[in-house]
Amino acid sequence: MLETLQQLPIDPILGLSAECRADPNPSKIDLTVGVYMDEQGLCPVFEAVQRAQQALVAEETSKAYMPPAGDEAFNLGMRRLVLGADSAALRDERVTSLQTTGGCGALRIGAEVIHAAAPRARVFVSDPSWPVHIPLLGSVGLQFQTYRYYDPASHGVDFDAMVADLKSAGAGDVVLLHGCCHNPSGADLSLQQWGAIADMAERQGFVPFVDMAYQGLGDGLERDAAGLRLLAQRLPEVLIAASCSKNMGLYRERTGLAIFVCRDAANARILLGHGLVAARRVYSMPPSHGALLAGRVLADDALTALWRSELAAMCERIKGLRSSLREKLEGACGRDFGFIECEKGMFSFLGLTAQQTLRLRREHSVYLLDSSRINVAGVNAGNIDYLADAVAQVL
Ligand code: LMR
Repeated sequence: MLETLQQLPIDPILGLSAECRADPNPSKIDLTVGVYMDEQGLCPVFEAVQRAQQALVAEETSKAYMPPAGDEAFNLGMRRLVLGADSAALRDERVTSLQTTGGCGALRIGAEVIHAAAPRARVFVSDPSWPVHIPLLGSVGLQFQTYRYYDPASHGVDFDAMVADLKSAGAGDVVLLHGCCHNPSGADLSLQQWGAIADMAERQGFVPFVDMAYQGLGDGLERDAAGLRLLAQRLPEVLIAASCSKNMGLYRERTGLAIFVCRDAANARILLGHGLVAARRVYSMPPSHGALLAGRVLADDALTALWRSELAAMCERIKGLRSSLREKLEGACGRDFGFIECEKGMFSFLGLTAQQTLRLRREHSVYLLDSSRINVAGVNAGNIDYLADAVAQVL
């Protein structure tokens, strides 16, 4: 039976990262996977997380299963972090959540619940989007439609095209939105544009599903969540997939939360039941370690303050890298790279062809995605000149 299976193409992100790891060139640069790296090229553990971990290891007395919805402190802390401590939806108890295996687990649980409610729902996904969105949500059996989002000519959001394409989304449909730091483009909606999407959702009846994977890495924790909070305040239903991979550096701990903003408290209880049944069907119980750490950080004022300051420093460094990269690329290539400074979070497209990115890999050991998406956080003072010169040579 199994011998009938054919070789699959490599993963468009993880495959290139593996190729880079195997490259013996000491000058190689890995700008593939969205992982924050410091000046030394290392992905650090937050000091606040380390302190929480020391306390947890000293105090933990059991490895029995977690409760099905996960750690209570984590759920409470994350709901407040994402929706805002003063959220009216939280106050009205029309929000429920369950801890998931990373943001991906939250996307999957959200898709399962959508499918249970509306098996024929179409999910509208931005073009471009994270390449795993469609396979991850699609494995549940949902249908997809793309909406135009990024305009390579202006290096920004083509909002008129987005609105035109979303005109056909109606009741029973879902629109997947990136909460901030759009992956792969780094081009985000303005608050006014979020407001226009809320108007459309109200008028047309579609439900937004917000992937919040990078809160805190664009313009800070509060501003990054402003669009999502506006939707939650105005609309009866919003699904959210939140992740602590990037903003707490808990990548390998698979720490995420599926949040359902519902019509009322009774409906929230029903939604939780569906989320739990979906999780039981897929992986039974959530993992504990990352959520226990994040829960401790979010429940302790001193640890929260430390974590917020570490995250703010990370965010500032990414902004600084964006400015330096713009300057170096413009100096080396003699063309405008101003868009890199305007975009948010870890990613930007360099605007290269697939052939040019292949040459960067083959001739310079510089690894970025075929779409020319780079992880800005992989740039540092030691590799920025090499990177700019390599780009100039393939342009
Ligand atoms: C990325 O886009 O590089 C990250 O979200 C990591 C991943 O799983 O692809």
